[in-house]
Amino acid sequence: MSLVIHQYAYGDPGTFTAEQENVGEPGPGEVRLRQRAVGVNYIDLAFRAGAIGGNDFPVTIGLEAAGDVEAVGPGVTAFKVEDRVTYTSVPGANAEKRLIPASSILHLAEGVTYEQAAAITAKGLTAGALVTKGYPVGAGDVVLIHAAAGGVGSLLVRLAKARGAVVIGTVGSAAKVAAAAANGADHVYALDSGEDIVAEIERITSGKGVNAVFDGVGRDTVDLSLHVVAESGAVLLFGASSGQPAPDRELISAKRVALSRPSLDALVPDQKERQSLADELFELVAGGELADLAITVYPLEDIARAHRDLESRRSTGSLVLTVQPG
Ligand SMILES: NC(=O)c1ccc[n+]([C@@H]2O[C@H](COP(=O)([O-])OP(=O)(O)OC[C@H]3O[C@@H](n4cnc5c(N)ncnc54)[C@H](OP(=O)(O)O)[C@@H]3O)[C@@H](O)[C@H]2O)c1
Repeated sequence: MSLVIHQYAYGDPGTFTAEQENVGEPGPGEVRLRQRAVGVNYIDLAFRAGAIGGNDFPVTIGLEAAGDVEAVGPGVTAFKVEDRVTYTSVPGANAEKRLIPASSILHLAEGVTYEQAAAITAKGLTAGALVTKGYPVGAGDVVLIHAAAGGVGSLLVRLAKARGAVVIGTVGSAAKVAAAAANGADHVYALDSGEDIVAEIERITSGKGVNAVFDGVGRDTVDLSLHVVAESGAVLLFGASSGQPAPDRELISAKRVALSRPSLDALVPDQKERQSLADELFELVAGGELADLAITVYPLEDIARAHRDLESRRSTGSLVLTVQPG
């Protein structure tokens, strides 16, 4: 028997129920994982509330985890028992053990802990895809990154800095300025500070505006994003933590903004390409650039507290749920 987090109805974090289940043997093409760390992502809040997902209760939400292969089903050749692995984008992660298609998992490099893997697989692959394929960030670019102390935001700051850009970050409040600066952002502004951020960015960019904006906040930041982007610059609306953005169409056409709504699944649908992007991230962990990423760890049973912290904007960095070896 192994621990699983069920919901019998969608709703607030109080709907999580820790139970024991028998996971069973893997079928053709599947493996059974003994998970050690589960990533918490902002989109989990929408799954938990029932804005996304089916009605086949009990449901187990969560998209991302890292652990070991415990059993291999017929026809699986790319993985063997005891391989260390990680994955994202496969619902049902909030559990100690699970069955999963072998085609959905990635090899996890030695030297990267399960907690680090669960912190960077979804968010790092997303950030990596955004700075390479969404808008290829390079030396000489000035980029703006919202929620620069958050999960994806922290990784965007680090990856954009590693690619040689000048990085301007925003955070919701003064309490998060230090966390964004610790990620390496060159300039950080708190959105509630009353500072004239448009004027500040004009000053930093000598009136040109930023080359690209990575906007995962959406409704509350899209106006700022469009005002500070350069003529023909890029605005990547990759998330909507504050609600769906309603971008000003006139401003978009007047400035000839390249507006996109990129997603990891659309940018990197191929699993081989995901593995090489993940391997690059693991090298950055081993090399130190991502080694000190802020990770807040909760026991899996404390999932409700993790969700409350993320939802109330108390969190910085990545949130990870750990499973103690049984
Ligand atoms: N397109 C994709 O493939 C993809 C993949 C992964 C994630 N995402 C998106 O990327 C975004 C970031 O995901 P994440 O998991 O790393 O979360 P996160 O950034 O760690 O957490 C969300 C952050 O959004 C900010 N925020 C602004 N307004 C908010 C509001 N009204 N309510 C709550 N938070 C608000 C908060 O930072 P401040 O307090 O600093 O404002 C909060 O910490 C999410 O929108 C997520 O859906 C997209």
